[in-house]
Amino acid sequence: MVADDARVGELRRRKAQAIAGGGQARVSAQHSKGKLTARERLDLLLDDGSFMEIDPLVEHRCRDFDMDRNVIPGDGVVCGHGTIGGRTVYCFAQDFTVYGGSLGEMHGLKICKVLDMALKTGSPVIGLNDSGGARIQEGVASLGSYAEIFFRNVRASGVIPQISVIMGPCAGGAVYSPAITDFVIMVDGTSHMFITGPEVIKTVTNEEVTFEDLGGSVTHATKSGVTHFTAEDDEGALDLVRDLIEMLPSNNLQRAPILPTNDSLDRSCEKLQDLVPENPKEPYDIVMAIEETVDDGAFLEVQAEFAMNIVVGFARLGGHTIGVVANQPNFLAGCLDIDASVKAARFVRFCDSFNIPLLTFVDVPGFLPGASQEWGGIIRHGAKLLYAYAEATVPKLTVITRKAYGGAYDVMSSKHIRGDYNVAWPSAQLAVMGAEGAVQIIHRRRINSSGNPEQERERLVDDYVDTFANPYRAASLGYLDDVIQPSETRKVMAKALGALLEKEEVRPARKHGNIPL
Ligand code: HXC
Repeated sequence: MVADDARVGELRRRKAQAIAGGGQARVSAQHSKGKLTARERLDLLLDDGSFMEIDPLVEHRCRDFDMDRNVIPGDGVVCGHGTIGGRTVYCFAQDFTVYGGSLGEMHGLKICKVLDMALKTGSPVIGLNDSGGARIQEGVASLGSYAEIFFRNVRASGVIPQISVIMGPCAGGAVYSPAITDFVIMVDGTSHMFITGPEVIKTVTNEEVTFEDLGGSVTHATKSGVTHFTAEDDEGALDLVRDLIEMLPSNNLQRAPILPTNDSLDRSCEKLQDLVPENPKEPYDIVMAIEETVDDGAFLEVQAEFAMNIVVGFARLGGHTIGVVANQPNFLAGCLDIDASVKAARFVRFCDSFNIPLLTFVDVPGFLPGASQEWGGIIRHGAKLLYAYAEATVPKLTVITRKAYGGAYDVMSSKHIRGDYNVAWPSAQLAVMGAEGAVQIIHRRRINSSGNPEQERERLVDDYVDTFANPYRAASLGYLDDVIQPSETRKVMAKALGALLEKEEVRPARKHGNIPL
């Protein structure tokens, strides 16, 4: 009996030490920065009482730099599994109060175990990152563990959803695990991601830049496109993860959970009847079309502040999760440029990996002209979006609201690259280019030799508009399955989706394609 008490006491002491992490002073320091601790974060992330910890007693085995006298069970990362909305997820949360959340050999191997278990069980994995990076005292053993994580991230890519939340520093090569995962969420003000910090940059290039400007959430949301979502604080970031998980299937062999809705599939979208302005140069907000079409107007936009000329995000139609891609006429006239192509291509590939049907709204005047776009590689970046759509075998629904010009018409989920159900509104114009540009090219001589060039030009533009600036030529060729009233969009798309849910499309066997990276 006495021996048993002693053993239980020893277990309790060790567990208590693991839970205490780096001690009260460091916990207070964490709170004073507006950050929660690793365990508090997991509590908020997961359904109440669902967390089950794995490896709380793992310790590092570093003997250098007096590390043998500084051992904290758990080694700076809290790992395990729990549920979100009743579905299993695997997760890890780095504990900044223990060696600054730095990643040593055993810390890294704990994360590897989580990734292995998630893959084995077909469950999403969520990483809460808050770390000073490679644990300096452990040297190459730390780098080795990082690479073991990267390898597992790649192996799991397209098999289970992987989500990274950046809730503190994330520097150096450490950024590459989040970068490989499907979604990155940053917390405004307290999270930073960069390959080399301000001091190294100052030494090497003489540039002066603050932590925030270099790698804060605003930078990554607007300039680099590294982050997909930004949250005001830790709580907001964890809420976002829950919202996202509820939209996604647990793995590539499953479908996303269906969420029943009271929003009738027959609902007429009256607001869309007059959405497209008479003047083809006038912008409008395509998000209105998305929100009117989907269930309950609920749209979870991804990368909302990056490449705003294209909108991507998740919604539901008849309860089924769909991925929405839409040109945004309100920004750069909805042109496709380098950033927009890459943003949408990655989103399309995510949806295709995880059996999420695609709904595409098209209003695109073409690719953005300019030397900087050409020199930046718009040819190979634009090709990524073409490739992604052509490769995708999930149900693909397309609505052309206005312009579908040139190569961009082909790219945006056209019939020719295997759009399954393609419709247009009566305001649609499917053509090689806009009327004025086209007339200038094909009728230049005729206009110049005319007695009244301006009048002749206008007449020819009107002619071109009558012939091409409508959806009927394309509909007569079967390139469109139908022309519908804007108000019918929800009804028609929901019916089409219902009929396509069991779609199967087989492509030739191959190791993998060679997307133009
Ligand atoms: C070991 C570390 C550590 C690290 C922080 N700590 N980073 N211990 N290895 N990489 C420890 C500190 O010694 C300190 O311990 C505690 O964590 C908290 O750190 P502070 O500096 O007091 O906190 P703060 O002022 O908030 O600054 C946080 C920080 C800073 C910005 C992250 O600590 C920092 O710059 N750390 C080094 C970052 C770095 O250069 N890492 C390597 C990047 S390269 P005590 O005991 O005092 O609480 C890399 C390569 C990865 O990671 C390669 C992958 C392939």
